[in-house]
Amino acid sequence: MCGIVGYIGDKFAAPFLLDGLTKLEYRGYDSAGIAVFDGKEIFIEKTVGRLDALKDKLKNNLPNGSIGIGHTRWATHGRPSDRNAHPHTDCHGDFVVVHNGIIENYMSLKEELIAKGHVFKSETDTEVVPHLVEEYYQGNFIAAVREVLKRIEGSYSLVFMSKANHDELICAKQDNPLVVGIGEGENFIASDIPAIINRTRSTYILNDGEIAIIKKDSVTITDRNGKVIDKKIFHVSWNAEAAEKGGYEHFMLKEINEQPKAIKDTMRGFIKQIRPAKNNNDERIAQDGSQIIFPELKWDPAFFNNINKIYIVACGTAYHAGLVGKFYIEKLARMLVEVDLASEFRYRDPIIDDKTLTIFISQSGETSDTLAAMKESKQRGAKTLAITNVIGSSLAREADQVLYTIAGPEIAVASTKAYTTQLILMFMLALYMSQLRNTLSTERTRELISLLKKIPSQISETLSDVEPIKTFAQRYGFNEHVFYIGRSLDYDVALEGALKLKEISYIHAEAYAAGELKHGTLALIIEGVPVIALATQKSVYDKTISNIKEVKARDAVVIGIAAEGDTELEKYIDHVIYVPNTDELLIPLLTVVPLQLLAYYAAITRGCDVDKPRNLAKSVTVE
Ligand code: G6P
Repeated sequence: MCGIVGYIGDKFAAPFLLDGLTKLEYRGYDSAGIAVFDGKEIFIEKTVGRLDALKDKLKNNLPNGSIGIGHTRWATHGRPSDRNAHPHTDCHGDFVVVHNGIIENYMSLKEELIAKGHVFKSETDTEVVPHLVEEYYQGNFIAAVREVLKRIEGSYSLVFMSKANHDELICAKQDNPLVVGIGEGENFIASDIPAIINRTRSTYILNDGEIAIIKKDSVTITDRNGKVIDKKIFHVSWNAEAAEKGGYEHFMLKEINEQPKAIKDTMRGFIKQIRPAKNNNDERIAQDGSQIIFPELKWDPAFFNNINKIYIVACGTAYHAGLVGKFYIEKLARMLVEVDLASEFRYRDPIIDDKTLTIFISQSGETSDTLAAMKESKQRGAKTLAITNVIGSSLAREADQVLYTIAGPEIAVASTKAYTTQLILMFMLALYMSQLRNTLSTERTRELISLLKKIPSQISETLSDVEPIKTFAQRYGFNEHVFYIGRSLDYDVALEGALKLKEISYIHAEAYAAGELKHGTLALIIEGVPVIALATQKSVYDKTISNIKEVKARDAVVIGIAAEGDTELEKYIDHVIYVPNTDELLIPLLTVVPLQLLAYYAAITRGCDVDKPRNLAKSVTVE
């Protein structure tokens, strides 16, 4: 996730900018840069790679000047490179901008600006912003910024700097964090508190839609229309370590809580409202309000009708996302899908030809087994699609086509927000394929898209009451064995829930397809053994209830996960955790959340190192 810093005051800006960016390194980045007004010009230095590389470049050339901005970039549009690193400028270097987020309508804005003669230097979405300021500037900096904000769509925290107006910085926030630090004779800007914590503890935490005009001895906060907002100062009491985790005790908990935003960011730009067009021959699109689009996929739409086999290949949590992905593609696009563990795939002589599509899912894009499986599959002639969270990763570079989850860096070893964003992407991909293959009615497509849009707020709802989950974790966290059962998609989620518990709490956890219990595992169910039973899939609901009764009859303690409105399950078991109701295809995005939390609180109960579990690595780059 990009990091932003800004300084205005009496001291030199550059040392703070570099120090602040260093404090934001934990957010993850691939390039960095700063801009400082040196009294005459805006001096810019930027580079791909680590901050040390930037510091090296600046070693004998640190700019003097007491107003500046800085940025660490986590690539979203345009691969990591010197040119794509921030800050970005207009045509003449008069306006400089750093940005965290995504400008969704940048393509059309870029075309418009190029037609007006603007010259672009990077492949980023961000660069349209300084060019727009140039376009609207008529001597009034804030007026130009307000005009720009009217034109851009998407998510952003933005800091604007102007050569002609070098006594102020302007920043704006929408859906991405931005903090103003209040000093004496100096003020600071940061995307996150750790960057400023050793300079000041008095801050304004900006809300969406707010604009801050920052001079060295004043901060004015307004809404988009210029109405001044009387904002309360927030005093930061966290220490530096807690600040990195946004006040959460662990990165894992922070990342669990980031899921609504990560999902929103991943969906952004892929759902399109289509207006009925007179000359549109496609009746489905003409009648339909919304549609899934994947502008990044450069395959001819006929491609999905010509392939005859799909493999999904991945490791760990990404493999579990693949299992759900298989369900989605088979159900919605009616194509046969096989899911393979990457470490097994290439050793089993898979049947592949040029009509095979292999989809590789990997948070890091660096997992050695997944990469090797991709190479093997390419050699055999398959078309390859990578789904990864890291732009420019090896998997992304190697694949024919790439789709990105926009979860931001995942730091905790146990994957959470990567999993849910992978599910969202797989769901949208399956819907996209169903549109191309005409396998779903317009009504159903529309219904699913409208339910899809509700998922982020439904996850927030699930996250709003963790107390019952904490209590279960404290009560059962010392058991040595826990079983997870479910049927259909519930079984796929059960696998992920069990993996989470194993990974971080070291409790032996097994997930079983509920109908399989009687073929062996039931022998392990004895009095007091906790069984987590997922029962959200309507088509197999009665059968799942029968399986739950089987374990209850052996005196297991059963904790159920059900959709709100289910009044049946609580009749048979000990406790029920409810998640908001949605379509049974989308409910894995909700049911996995209490399972992530259960694993987290169980690990806390047992005193385990949640973010760095023993023997495990975030990214496994050896075979
Ligand atoms: C490691 C991590 C898991 C992750 C797996 C695949 O084992 O501990 O959390 O799911 O690798 O990682 P990838 O980056 O390919 O998704």
